[in-house]
Amino acid sequence: MRPKIVAYGRVREKARNKLSEKYEVSHFNNEEDLSNEAFKQAISEASAFIVGELEVGKDLLDHAPHLKVVSNVSVGYDNLDIEELTKRGIAATNTPDVLNDTTADAIFGLLLAAARRIPELDQYVKQGEWKGLLPETRFGVDVHHKTLGIIGMGRIGEVIAKRAHFGFDMNILYHNRSRKPGLEEKFAAEYRSLDQLLEASDYVCLMTPLTPETRYLMGAEQFKRMKKSAVFVNGSRGHTVDETALVEALENGEIRAAALDVFQEEPVSSNHPLLKLEHVVTTPHLGSATAETEDRMSLLAAENVDAVLEGQRPPNLINKQIFSS
Ligand code: DGY
Repeated sequence: MRPKIVAYGRVREKARNKLSEKYEVSHFNNEEDLSNEAFKQAISEASAFIVGELEVGKDLLDHAPHLKVVSNVSVGYDNLDIEELTKRGIAATNTPDVLNDTTADAIFGLLLAAARRIPELDQYVKQGEWKGLLPETRFGVDVHHKTLGIIGMGRIGEVIAKRAHFGFDMNILYHNRSRKPGLEEKFAAEYRSLDQLLEASDYVCLMTPLTPETRYLMGAEQFKRMKKSAVFVNGSRGHTVDETALVEALENGEIRAAALDVFQEEPVSSNHPLLKLEHVVTTPHLGSATAETEDRMSLLAAENVDAVLEGQRPPNLINKQIFSS
């Protein structure tokens, strides 16, 4: 009998087809499916679970006694209970690197859109408000030659810095758990404490993974430290930001604008106070959302599954203890 794999959500057809050559794959797409008998049956027999945004913890794992691997189609893995998976001897994997450039493009796009007020001025044109010279009240601010502060200089932070340094002549400041001497040299980037970075940056780009240390990293005190003219960009996870504090900072003019790809609750409710504010540009967690990159991520997730089911160490193992021997 072929080993069984359950795929949920954003797992692309290419990857499912590839896995189907060797394994029995069932795919579930909607949240409602999760309470269906068919899903319960499939997960109770599965050796592997490939998943995008779904929370995977004790409750689900109790129904999946045969799992050897949970393969996340995402670089962030705050949706996985790594401790619980490790305790049960289940490998956890993610999909780093293949999305770096795509995500950096999107984050840089958000930054530019907020700085030059592109979504607002798109509406201005489409709604027939453009009658002559653009009034100064609609002007944006420059991006080139300004200072970009990157919080979380991981692999995506690095390619954002590359765009900013080589493409926009920006000065780069960064804050990270560890110093990155190679990047300091490559992009003339300077390491700063979080407070120093917030005080000195024209653009603050938050790119950290969500961990207990980064939860609500940006709160009222941090927004107050930013320049009144600064733009805040969140490309990490919604829970790294105190959204109430962000609303207040924008309403009180403590910062100029925000560009957000992520929210505490996703999809964000259309009544969310952030969506009512001027100078807030939003996108629906689209960092990696191009067909090419989503295919690459799903294929890498499939590769991780295949390795574990073949008894090998997967290329992107998160809980390293699992294959320590
Ligand atoms: C990731 O991979 O973590 C991105 O946020 C897309 O989900």
